[in-house]
Amino acid sequence: MNESSSRVVVITGGSRGIGRAVALRFAEEKAVVVLVHYDPDDEAARETEALLAEHGVKASSYRVDVSSRQAVVELFSEIHESFGVTDVLVNNAGITRDTLLMRMTESDWDAVMQVNLKSVFNCTQAVLRPMVKKRGGCIVNISSVVGQIGNAGQANYAASKAGIMGFTKSVAREVAGRGLRVNAVAPGFIDTEMTAVLPEKVKEEFLRQIPMSRMGTPRDVAEAVYWLASEAAAYITGQVIHVNGGMYM
Ligand SMILES: NC(=O)c1ccc[n+]([C@@H]2O[C@H](COP(=O)([O-])OP(=O)(O)OC[C@H]3O[C@@H](n4cnc5c(N)ncnc54)[C@H](O)[C@@H]3O)[C@@H](O)[C@H]2O)c1
Repeated sequence: MNESSSRVVVITGGSRGIGRAVALRFAEEKAVVVLVHYDPDDEAARETEALLAEHGVKASSYRVDVSSRQAVVELFSEIHESFGVTDVLVNNAGITRDTLLMRMTESDWDAVMQVNLKSVFNCTQAVLRPMVKKRGGCIVNISSVVGQIGNAGQANYAASKAGIMGFTKSVAREVAGRGLRVNAVAPGFIDTEMTAVLPEKVKEEFLRQIPMSRMGTPRDVAEAVYWLASEAAAYITGQVIHVNGGMYM
């Protein structure tokens, strides 16, 4: 841990939506929060920083494309120099490029795989060695219910999110003996900018599939992430926790 003995928590995609809610949840324990995002500007990240400041947490944010291996190596070397070894990594950055497979371009496929899956490889590898050396640390990867059940129009996204599940379980097996835990959270249909762009008809169709008859909140997801990264989950690794109002059981 760093000098203040607060946990260092790095959240990719931390500027808004689920990532912001995760940051706010960790702020409650006065963690050292590091936000990584790739928005066109810093507006949402600044807003998140202001919300975190209300909890007495001075967060740092970085605008870095986590699909770029070189950029991630440089990012974590700076983070570790400034704040100490990462205690919790939340791999949450993600994008969609939805279209039916018949119409999907190679760039739709590549962009989603790079941002959603390769970024998880990049960031996890960047924290793994220091965590192993310290014999402690938690990684929580954000997958999706769609990685489990599939979704028409999201072959690229579903493949990336199913990939995260396999990655999570494999790395969990590799590092369990070193005192590290790696888990995934698979959100269902959550109220964020990502889902705000969906046509009303698609939203209604999703809602019909949810036994609890409501969208999830970013906070619903953040609670599961926080719990997995806590001592309460000390014997849990390699799991995928579904947060979806019963959409998939
Ligand atoms: N909203 C949902 O219903 C839902 C459901 C299941 C899973 N998820 C997953 O949860 C995660 C967060 O989703 P959200 O709804 O909060 O999305 P969002 O669009 O509100 O936020 C996405 C975040 O990812 C960041 N990001 C995008 N590309 C990046 C890149 N190349 N490098 C660094 N950061 C990048 C953005 O800057 C932003 O901070 C994603 O992985 C998403 O796939 C969301």
